[in-house]
Amino acid sequence: MTDATWSTVDAYWAAHVLAPDPDLDAALAANTAGGLPPIDVSPLQGKLLHLLARSIGASRILEIGTLGGYSTIWLARALPPEGALITCELDPHHAEVARANLARAGLDGVVEVRVGPALQTLQTLTGPFDLTFVDADKASTAEYVEAAIGLTRPGGVIIVDNVVRGGGVVDPTSPDRAVAGIRRFADAVAGDRRVDATVIQTVGGKSYDGFLYAVVRP
Ligand code: SAH
Ligand code: DHB
Ligand code: MG
Repeated sequence: MTDATWSTVDAYWAAHVLAPDPDLDAALAANTAGGLPPIDVSPLQGKLLHLLARSIGASRILEIGTLGGYSTIWLARALPPEGALITCELDPHHAEVARANLARAGLDGVVEVRVGPALQTLQTLTGPFDLTFVDADKASTAEYVEAAIGLTRPGGVIIVDNVVRGGGVVDPTSPDRAVAGIRRFADAVAGDRRVDATVIQTVGGKSYDGFLYAVVRP
């Protein structure tokens, strides 16, 4: 089984469970036009984030790592009318593309894009959030999750993207700083009694990766 099969199956299921979506299509087109890397979550993964947020009735959502706001749109659409989402992005150009994508999708009133190093931005935020999605530079994942635990309510959910990296996560000698970052995070979460966590490995149009799903203990 290969990436080609994974992508074909992704497209098959996307055709069955995802509706046509001009705003999401336009966001991806604007990302490409703006030179952003194509490292957004996949459409099926985006909908999973959306459904998880809806399942817990999330009204305040925090995202670390905006890129062009593709995952942001999926998450923000799960919010009730009075809900809000804050998303942190280092790169001003990414943030600019994201703001335009969010405005096109009618979400500029509920989403705030905060530009700057996320570790600094996080220090200025007041919780509690119901759900936090961690998806920025992987080297700092341990620090992002530490901050997220303080900002996410008891019973709330923390989701961490890209914790498998094509299987690279199990290589202690990997020269990839992202892998080293995820491994450092894995060691931290292993002894952390403040969260209950599991990991889902994923294949699909975005190749082989996975996410960690954690609930903050009451
Ligand atoms: N969540 C997005 C993808 C995010 S890609 C989606 O699925 O659609 C990771 C993003 O994190 C990039 O835009 C990158 O610029 C940003 N990033 C990298 N380092 C960062 C930092 N220190 N603080 C905030 N954002 C950062
Ligand atoms: C990378 C980052 C991501 O958030 C992702 O989903 C895939 C790849 C990266 O930095 O390579
Ligand atoms: Mg990611």
